[in-house]
Order: sequence, then C-alpha cells, then structure tokens
Amino acid sequence: MKLIHDIAGLRQALQPTPRRAFVPTMGNLHEGHLSLLRQARAAVDEQGAGGLVVASIFVNRLQFAPHEDFDRYPRTLARDCELLQSAGCDVVFAPDEAELYPEPQGYKVQPPNELANILEGQFRPGFFTGVCTVVAKLFNIVQPSIAVFGKKDYQQLMVLRRMVDQLALPITVLGGETTRSEQGLALSSRNGYLSEAERAEALRLSRTLKTLLARWAAGEQDLALLEAEAMAHLREHGWQPDYVCLRRQHDLSPALPGQPVVALAAAKLGATRLIDNIEGS
Ligand code: PAJ
Repeated sequence: MKLIHDIAGLRQALQPTPRRAFVPTMGNLHEGHLSLLRQARAAVDEQGAGGLVVASIFVNRLQFAPHEDFDRYPRTLARDCELLQSAGCDVVFAPDEAELYPEPQGYKVQPPNELANILEGQFRPGFFTGVCTVVAKLFNIVQPSIAVFGKKDYQQLMVLRRMVDQLALPITVLGGETTRSEQGLALSSRNGYLSEAERAEALRLSRTLKTLLARWAAGEQDLALLEAEAMAHLREHGWQPDYVCLRRQHDLSPALPGQPVVALAAAKLGATRLIDNIEGS
C-alpha cells in the first residue's frame, strides 16, 4: 500500500490504472469505514483484475463551522494506514491543507436548497457546500469509476448522489450499510468524545429511532406528534436533540403512508453531537 501526500504524486501513481474505487474519509478510522473499503475492493475486483482501491484522509475545514470540532477532530494517520492496509486498500491519499487548499477555495459546489438546507443543513449551515466542494475536488484528483459512501450519513449520501447525477460525473456511487456496536450504537469517530456513562446512554438514539419506526409501521400517522414525543423522550434523558424525524427515503420530504421511510436524528449528548438513521419499510 502506498501513502501519498501530494496531488502530482497521486496522479502519477494512479495513471497506469484506469479502474479505481474510491472511499473518501476524514480519518480516525473504525470498522464502519473499513466495511466501505471492503465494499470498494469487492466492487472494483468484480470488474476484473488490476483495479485499485484508493482511500483519502483529509479533515476538511470547509465543512466545519467555526464553533465546531475541527481543531480537536482526532488525527491518527499511522494507525489508519495499518487498518487500511488490512482492509485491502492500495493507495492512501492524505494531503495537508496547503496541498488541497493552496489558496482560499473560492469556487464552491453548492447543492440545491431543498436538499441542503433541511435536517443536517438546517443545523449546520454551509456543511453540504463544504462536503460537495471537497468531494468534487477529490473526485477530480482521484478520477474514480466507483465511489463508496456510508448510509450512516444518509443525507450526505443523497446529496452526493445528486451531485454526481446533475454534474454528469462518470462515477457509480455505492451506499454502504451502517456498522453498529453489538448493542446498536452506530460507529463514529465522534464516539471517542463520549465518557463511559455517555457511551451507555448513547444507545438510546438508535432505540428512539426504532420506536418511531415501529409506531409508524403500526399505523400511527400523526407525524408531528410522533416526532415531538421522540424529541421529548431524548430531552428527558439529558439529550439536546436538533431533530428526530420520519422522512421519505426517496427525497427526505415528510413521510407518507405506503412509501418507504427513514427515521433520522441528530442530538447532542453532553458536548458531543451524534447522528443516526434507520430505514423502515
Ligand atoms: P467520515 O465521517 O470520516 O466518513 C467517511 C465515510 O464513512 C462516509 O461515507 C461515512 O458515511 C462513512 N461512515 C461513517 N461511519 C460509518 C458507519 N458506522 N458505518 C458505515 N459507514 C460509515 O463523511 C465524511 O467523513 C466526510 O464528510 C467526507 C465525505 C470524507 C468529506 O469530507
């Protein structure tokens, strides 16, 4: 496995091999990231021998608001590389800020409001512009034919799929299932911020989503009531929820009976903001 820090070096290393599957990350890798790597490996190998799996590690300042955790986001490159190698990665691209943003990034990729200003976008203004801009730039550098993103960040996956479609990028986007702890906590680099007591409490997030889905599946249709009760339940246990809601899988508009739904939540537990989602039927 090669570790490369500069764009020119990466282009040279990738140039002889036209087929690449790409997994962008911000590092501090866990089993969730590695499952995407293995999915990328399988997808590119399915098309024949000789394809490459490329991962990137870059904590993207553009997608963090000034009060967020950019500075304390964990940076663990040496361990990440060991894990990537074990998951079948061929090339790791880990640029520093001066390499990816040698001057302030004035050109940006702005996703449409109806998708980018709801849910995560409502509570993290500018977040999806930061994500789309860095992912578009990484796509131009790596030029993959396959890219894999996790359903853990459900809205991000949807925003990036639409970007690839609308900009006609020649990339197949694959969604990877969310990897969870045995008890159901979605793995996240930010789980490392939790105290032991908070880690136990954190299980309530996915359980709240499951309850919401179960009540909907049982025929309760008052969405506003269901969502308000889910938020109140979290508050009672010390959480500060941004949103808990039930949306259509298709476009994240409010759930409608008879259409596939997804329950999504973002909530702060102490100083740590966690997100999760579960697809229903
Ligand atoms: P990061 O949070 O490092 O996540 C990288 C990829 O791993 C994303 O596609 C995310 O959805 C996926 N992922 C995270 N936790 C997961 C889990 N428990 N199970 C399965 N997949 C999981 O998302 C980002 O970085 C950034 O926004 C990025 C796309 C790299 C742009 O900067």
